[in-house]
Amino acid sequence: MSELNKFKRFTITSALPYANGPLHIGHLAGAYLPADIFVRYLRLKKKDVVYICGSDEHGAAITIKAKKENTTPQAIIDKYHSQIKQSFEEFGISFDIYHRTSSAIHHDLSQEFFLNLYEKGEFVEKYSEQYFDEDFQQFLADRYITGTCPNCKYPNAYGDQCENCGTSLNPTDLINPISTLSGKPPVLKATKHWYLPLDKYQPWLEKWIDEKEGEWKVNVFGQCKSWLKSGLQPRSMTRDLDWGIDVPLEEAKGKKLYVWMDAPIGYISATKQWALDHGKDWTLYWKKQPNEQDNTCLIHFIGKDNIVFHCIIFPAILKAHGEYVLPQNVPANEFLNLEGDKLSTSRNHAVWLHEYLEEFPGKQDELRYVLTSILPETSDSEFTWKDYQARVNNELVAIMGNFVNRVMILMHKFFGGKIETANEKIVLKDEVIGYELFRIWSEIEQNIENYRFRQGMQAVMDIARVGNRYLTEKEPWKTIKTDPADARLALHNCLVIIGHLASAMQPFLPGSAKKVLNMLNWPEETIAFNGEVSFKNGHQLNAAALLFEKVEDSVIEQQIARLQAKKPAVQAPVSQIVPAKENINYEAFAAMDIRVGTILAAEKVAKTKKLLKLTIDTGLDTRTVVSGIAEHYEPEAIIGKKVSLLANLEPREIKGIVSQGMILMAEDPEGKLTFVSPQDAFDNGSVVR
Ligand code: 2FM
Ligand code: ZN
Repeated sequence: MSELNKFKRFTITSALPYANGPLHIGHLAGAYLPADIFVRYLRLKKKDVVYICGSDEHGAAITIKAKKENTTPQAIIDKYHSQIKQSFEEFGISFDIYHRTSSAIHHDLSQEFFLNLYEKGEFVEKYSEQYFDEDFQQFLADRYITGTCPNCKYPNAYGDQCENCGTSLNPTDLINPISTLSGKPPVLKATKHWYLPLDKYQPWLEKWIDEKEGEWKVNVFGQCKSWLKSGLQPRSMTRDLDWGIDVPLEEAKGKKLYVWMDAPIGYISATKQWALDHGKDWTLYWKKQPNEQDNTCLIHFIGKDNIVFHCIIFPAILKAHGEYVLPQNVPANEFLNLEGDKLSTSRNHAVWLHEYLEEFPGKQDELRYVLTSILPETSDSEFTWKDYQARVNNELVAIMGNFVNRVMILMHKFFGGKIETANEKIVLKDEVIGYELFRIWSEIEQNIENYRFRQGMQAVMDIARVGNRYLTEKEPWKTIKTDPADARLALHNCLVIIGHLASAMQPFLPGSAKKVLNMLNWPEETIAFNGEVSFKNGHQLNAAALLFEKVEDSVIEQQIARLQAKKPAVQAPVSQIVPAKENINYEAFAAMDIRVGTILAAEKVAKTKKLLKLTIDTGLDTRTVVSGIAEHYEPEAIIGKKVSLLANLEPREIKGIVSQGMILMAEDPEGKLTFVSPQDAFDNGSVVR
């Protein structure tokens, strides 16, 4: 407890997930599992800690989902709030409260915050031209608008942020903006809003962030520095929306608070609710205390896409208010990928927590273990089912489970599961092991305190490794015949090692730690963290139970196959789909002679950028076709390619070459072309219809 030791109290938050869909493993690995390990550790260290989370129920994420499901925002948040809450509970994410931003206490506190800043004159009031969808008669804030990111040119950036490069945006920054409501380009219209002058806070933020160098994770510190370098702009704290918290001003009727103004305040309102429920004083967990050393230590666990909001905007809001503490640390994680691809809700490329719970009942710790082992702490990381299987089978089963199981079985077989000693109690009687445990414990604590949970998890596994090695060396199954006292001593030492293991497992694998304690017949629910482990003379152990089970190949294969099957055909965003054409009659269609052919030769057409001259074997003849694909394919790369050809298109002269037909190409939303190719087995001249 080095650095953290100076704090009396801890306020730990995990990002409030939008209540617009179920949770997947990426959520767990981003902001929840690390925070839960950290909080469980603090509790075991007997610290005063409150762990806060809840559903983020405002913003376009909710209304867009409601529109998609043809229902109301209220129905959406009710449905997903309870589903999300349940998933968290089942994975043992040990929030002290899981609240909701739709609650009255939250609406009130958010409005109070807004008014506090308003009355201090902190906002800049500005009329500006904002995008407006004429078909829907609605202003288009944040996620209601997409377009190309001016920074990285990602084509599907949102009006408030580019999820590709993380840049925080205003809708008017987007290139080629499109309304997500009508799919049409919006028009500009004047409207009044209340802006937080982030530019005014820039010097203060620079100083504050600079103090975090070396303390905050490199990725977080680096992102902050880069925003500050590009210069902060005033950011509107109000929106023209019909879902959210009313702006508490007469002249702002019909306007709502910006979701990123209200959501982080959700951490505070949730704490207020928790304090009410438990007879506590919430201000101790948020407000500056008369003596600085009495201040709480505020830590936000988030994913990297939330860094700007937690490290720049929310601190500026807290600073403007003046009575609140600022975050001590924001240990943001990078992203988790799945089987070589980004996790994606829209493409259904995810391992959903509620589905995992159904298909792997009672195996929450297996997932906690695997995810903790691959947390994207310093860079993006990847979950694969094969890796899941390997880690469960080769580590949880073969190392941790195996050690505990062997010792328990031998204790029962040789001594009826009873500890008998000449002394009052048994303690560890092996100096080498004692020293190793001491070293491992210091690693575990150091790693947790520095947000290196992957390494912390491995250090816990090292306790089991030490145990296995000791047991193999001592061979009590042999010495029981020659020197039973030595066999007994070895097994007693192993039991003490198991006690340490259970103790260290608690923050990481809480369910399994309990199972081990139960096997040990430990009198209490928990075992002191890094404390003395001893057993009284005459202590009776409970029966051995399997901690972890092997994952069979068939289980993994099924999951992989399911992921493949789940992926819907990649669809272009609605806004970018080319409008339907007029109907044609069947005759018009049947009149087209489309055939399979093979490209025999290809060359660039001189003095053009786009054209290739192709020689095609059509089965009927060998002919020349000029095609506008030079920007997409190198000529040499397409020789031998099977293509579909509209063979009876009137011959046309292009750049002095007579083109006899047209190659069929598919075009994606970004304008990339690809051949509509038949299976290779088709003969040239086969008809396409
Ligand atoms: O990105 C998200 O999912 C947001 N709902 C996170 C909000 S965190 C906090 F500020 F409330
Ligand atoms: Zn970008």
